[in-house]
Amino acid sequence: EKDGYPSFMEKEIHEQPRAVSETLLGRTDAAGKLILDELRIDPEQLKQVNKIIVLACGTSAYAGQVAKYAIEHWCRIPTEVELSHEFRYRDPIVDGNTLIISISQSGETMDTLMAVRYAREQGAKTLAICNTNGSTIPRESDAVLYTHAGPEIAVASTKAFLAQITAAYLLGLYLAQLRGNKFQGEIKDLLADLHKTPEKIQTVLDNEAQIRDLAVAMKDAKSVLFLGRHVGFPVAMEGALKLKELAYIHAEGFAAGELKHGPIALIEDGQPVFVVVPSPNGRDSLHAKVVSNIQEIRARGAKTIVIAEEGDEAVREFAEHVFYIPATPTLLAPLLTTVPLQIFACALASAKGYDVDQPRNLAKSVTVE
Ligand code: F6R
Repeated sequence: EKDGYPSFMEKEIHEQPRAVSETLLGRTDAAGKLILDELRIDPEQLKQVNKIIVLACGTSAYAGQVAKYAIEHWCRIPTEVELSHEFRYRDPIVDGNTLIISISQSGETMDTLMAVRYAREQGAKTLAICNTNGSTIPRESDAVLYTHAGPEIAVASTKAFLAQITAAYLLGLYLAQLRGNKFQGEIKDLLADLHKTPEKIQTVLDNEAQIRDLAVAMKDAKSVLFLGRHVGFPVAMEGALKLKELAYIHAEGFAAGELKHGPIALIEDGQPVFVVVPSPNGRDSLHAKVVSNIQEIRARGAKTIVIAEEGDEAVREFAEHVFYIPATPTLLAPLLTTVPLQIFACALASAKGYDVDQPRNLAKSVTVE
């Protein structure tokens, strides 16, 4: 049942092109328009939404952070992301025009379920992004958008994460389409780009040997840091979480711009740091800023491992290792940049002899608060 892979996690990492394509399947019409009738929420009500709060925990919350960047940019609806277990206890402001988007692979996470219930009681509309048909959270929500990653067996989430991000993009583009804002022209192009991502994920997987070798060579690392900016920030956090969970190594993800506000003090000779670099063709000066962050930490002795877009030669001279991913629009990049970080954590944990499917102290669905 592991299809020849040594673990479910490896199998699931390799199923990601399919998890994304299945999640996209059947959700656009021949003219390239998004059809999400399955939501069963009145489009008129969705048009009235003036605030979105994404509720989730762990990896699913990082998918939520990616969703925030995309939804705000495409829909111009103020969007917050909050950990479910924090939301309920702070007297949040929600009303009938607030859309709550919960993200949960299992659909059974108690923290998220309680947060959704609470928001509903306050009159908010609730929409679940979920990978498990008929589970509790979608049943208790006004609407559901299923991810089609297939059952995820390994405790740590991989393919569900990519599917969640994909579903969030679809939802963001759908809301933009409904509201008829200035991004209409872009929607079609973005959908076309989105449909090209499964193949690009496959390209990343085809090149996995480089990152696996690095993981084996780094198996005695005591601490690994991850830096990213914009959508690369939640990817960095996810890379760190995977490494903590699977390899029991101290790992932390930071927003690259935050470095000089404190974390740079951690950099000493030989400290490994992964840096998720935005596309040089993306917006503003993000790429240049991250490259200068790499220079700063390199000058202080960091061993830099860079995930960059193919053709990005500027990063080479400051990087110990460069792992290239296919070019893709900035907002969609997490579907690609996450993959090497998953492979790294999984290969490093395996090199240490750990059970990557059943990390210590963790359960697949957390059904207690
Ligand atoms: C990390 C991981 C957890 C889950 C979190 C939420 O690899 O798997 O952080 O993402 O417990 O679970 P769901 O998505 O089922 O609500």
